[in-house]
Amino acid sequence: MFLDMKRILVVAVLSLGLWTSCSKYGTTDAYTPSCSGTAKSYMTDVAPIISSSCGGCHGNLSSYSQLFSSRNSVRNAVVSGNMPRRSSLSTAQKDAIVCWIDTGAANN
Ligand code: HEC
Repeated sequence: MFLDMKRILVVAVLSLGLWTSCSKYGTTDAYTPSCSGTAKSYMTDVAPIISSSCGGCHGNLSSYSQLFSSRNSVRNAVVSGNMPRRSSLSTAQKDAIVCWIDTGAANN
């Protein structure tokens, strides 16, 4: 009897651990850029997203030259989903920023 209870407990604890680790992976929204469409433009595609989704907290990303010099950390922040704080970007918005950076981040 005592042994059975112990077994049940062990199984219960193990499955709980498995469940929590799986659900943790399930909520991670892995993002992979998809850059097959038309080339992205700073003025048309990127600047409006930065202005509306980042500008409220980062006045320092509002000009082309500022964004260009921060492009590597901006890319990391967008790909990881770390930014924007307390909000999120759509996949299309992430693609616009990341693909623009990956094709040279031109002032176009
Ligand atoms: C609600 C406010 C807020 C918004 C919106 C926001 N940020 Fe941030 N961001 C912060 C704060 C606060 C920090 C500094 C603390 C930190 O690094 O987590 C930061 C740090 C950063 C950094 C440097 C640290 C890092 O993660 O590499 C970058 C780059 C960045 N943000 C980019 C962006 C971009 C791009 C957007 C828009 C897509 C954005 N942020 C939107 C508040 C914000």
